[in-house]
Amino acid sequence: MTTEATAIAHPNVALSKYWGKREEVAGAVGLGAGPLSGPANIPAVPSLSVTLEGLTTRATVRFDTSLAEDRVTLDGAAARGQARARVVDMLDRVRLVSGETRRAEVASRNDFPTASGLASSASGFAALALAVVRAARLDWDAARVSDLARRSSVSAARSILGGFVELDGPVARQVAPRDHLPLAVLVCVTSEGPKMVGSTEGMRRTMERSPFARAWLDEAPKLHAALREALLARDFDKVGELAEASALAMHASAISAGVVYWNGATIEVLSTVRALRDAGTPAYATIDAGPHVKVLVRPEDVARVRPALESTAGVLRVIEARVGEGARLVES
Ligand code: PMV
Repeated sequence: MTTEATAIAHPNVALSKYWGKREEVAGAVGLGAGPLSGPANIPAVPSLSVTLEGLTTRATVRFDTSLAEDRVTLDGAAARGQARARVVDMLDRVRLVSGETRRAEVASRNDFPTASGLASSASGFAALALAVVRAARLDWDAARVSDLARRSSVSAARSILGGFVELDGPVARQVAPRDHLPLAVLVCVTSEGPKMVGSTEGMRRTMERSPFARAWLDEAPKLHAALREALLARDFDKVGELAEASALAMHASAISAGVVYWNGATIEVLSTVRALRDAGTPAYATIDAGPHVKVLVRPEDVARVRPALESTAGVLRVIEARVGEGARLVES
């Protein structure tokens, strides 16, 4: 006997960043046990993201009595090692709570390249979480699916929802729908290779070694609260300024721990963005755990900003994204 479900989800970009997990902070910054130690993979600071459209992961999960073990394919190739283990962990969590005993066949496919500069783990685990919950015939709301997704990838918790999404604790929730603030995200891809340090390892090192870890942990919630307020007031410039400030503060803490994600082109794009602003075009930069720069602009300015980014030294290509919907079930 089989039961099957397919879901799609999109990547997201954090406007106010999360960097650091509660369990690490408790250990490294000397907070000890107590309320901050909590369950695994809880972000140490709140974040607010925008779910994108135009880039999609599609995941199918089929529980099947005839399977002797879980089978996982990612972009058409059999997954092995760590990549397979992360998927099987999620299946095991759902089997544990649902009483499901069958093994599963999992197929996940991105319609965008992994080196696009957008986190495929966010869209991948969001689509997978929704598909596995439905295939196990659990009747869970978005909050529970978000909680499940977060245990595999913190940013995946946010891709369960569409529009503007907040993650402050174990579960993400929508702060504003996608049409709340007109926004385009221009992703400047500056390298084809995989990043040198994964985000989990990068934040662990930051919490352990950065002399500014405590400052980041104190500052991030304030930036987040101000950004949330600016978003609700539909103040594009304030949202952009605070998003850039959040990204720079996060990277300052990482860099001071020796975790440098930037390359030369990262700096070049930052200076193009500053020049655009000086010339009167509102454009703001944000950077995740890699060398690519995501530029936030108003949709009416895309035609002017895009060529400036494309002609910036070291930019390989520019991908344009708009605000999108959350994870949803589709026909298999
Ligand atoms: O989702 P993770 O655990 O891989 O971490 C992502 C961290 C950042 O993208 C740098 C920030 C964020 O809030 O998405």
